[in-house]
Amino acid sequence: MKVVKNVLHMQKIALKHLKNKNEIGLVPTMGALHKGHVSLISKSVKNNDISIVSIFVNPIQFGPNEDYIKYPKPVQKDLKICKENHVDYVFMPSVNDMFSHNYKTFVKVRDLQDILCGPIRPGHFVGVVTVILKLFNISQANRAYFGMKDFQQLKIVEKMVKDLNFSTEIVPCPIVREKDGLALSSRNSYLSADEKKNSLNIFKILNLAKQDFKKCKLNLVKSKAINRFKKIPNSKLDYAEIVKFDDLSKVDEKTKKAVFTVAMWIGKTRLIDNIIMSKKK
Ligand code: PAJ
Repeated sequence: MKVVKNVLHMQKIALKHLKNKNEIGLVPTMGALHKGHVSLISKSVKNNDISIVSIFVNPIQFGPNEDYIKYPKPVQKDLKICKENHVDYVFMPSVNDMFSHNYKTFVKVRDLQDILCGPIRPGHFVGVVTVILKLFNISQANRAYFGMKDFQQLKIVEKMVKDLNFSTEIVPCPIVREKDGLALSSRNSYLSADEKKNSLNIFKILNLAKQDFKKCKLNLVKSKAINRFKKIPNSKLDYAEIVKFDDLSKVDEKTKKAVFTVAMWIGKTRLIDNIIMSKKK
C-alpha cells in the first residue's frame, strides 16, 4: 500500500494504471474510518484492479460554525485499516494542494442541494460536489463508492455524474449499523454514553415509520415520527422528511418507494439517518 500526498503524483499514478487497462475504484472519505467505510472499501477491492481511498477533511464543505477544526483525524489508525483491507493507494492531499489560494471553480447541483440538509448547511453540497469532481479527475476512477447513510449526498453525486457525462459508475452501498441500530458515523465519537443511548431511538423511530408507511396516509406517518423524535431527551430536530427514493422529489399517496430521512441534534452532535420504505408487504 502506498500513501500519496501530492495531487499531481496521484493523478500520474492513476493515468498509468488507466493506460495499463487497470480498473480503478475510488472510496472518497474524510477519515476516522469505521466499519461503514470498510464496507465501501471491501466492495471496491473486490470489484476493481486498483483501489484508492482518499482521506481528506474537505474544508469547503464545512460551515463557519461547524466541526472542521475538531473533526477526528486518527491518521495511523486509518492507515492500518486501509492496509488490513488491501487498499492499493491512500490519497491524503493537503488543503493547499487541493484548494490553492487562487482557487475559483465550484459546482452546483440545483434543486437537489436546496432541500433537506441544504438550507441548514449553506454551501455544504457545493463543497461536496466540487471536491468529488476533483477526486474523480485525480483518481480517474471507473467506479466510486458512496454510502446510503448520506442519502442526499449520494443522489446529488449521481445527478452531477449524469449531468456532466462522467463515465465514473456510482456504486451505492447500504448503511452499516451497530448491533443496537445506530448508524456508524465518524461523529458518533462525540457522543457521551447517555447521548449514545438516546440516539438509539432514531433507528427505532425510523423502523416504526417504515411500518406506518404500509398502512397510513403520508401526513400521519410523518407527524407520528416527528412526535416521537421530539420526545428524545436532550435533542433538537433539524428536519424529518419523506421523499421519493429515486430523486428526492415530493412524495404523494401513490409513491411506492420512499425514503424517510432525518437530521437531528443529540446534545451538541448532529446525526443524520434514513430508512427506505416501500408499500409492498
Ligand atoms: P465521510 O463522512 O467520511 O463518508 C465517506 C463515505 O462513507 C460516504 O460515502 C458515506 O456515505 C459513507 N458512510 C459513512 N458512514 C456509513 C455507514 N454507517 N454505512 C455506510 N456508509 C457509510 O461523506 C463524506 O465523508 C464526505 O462528504 C465526502 C464524500 C468524502 C466528500 O468530502
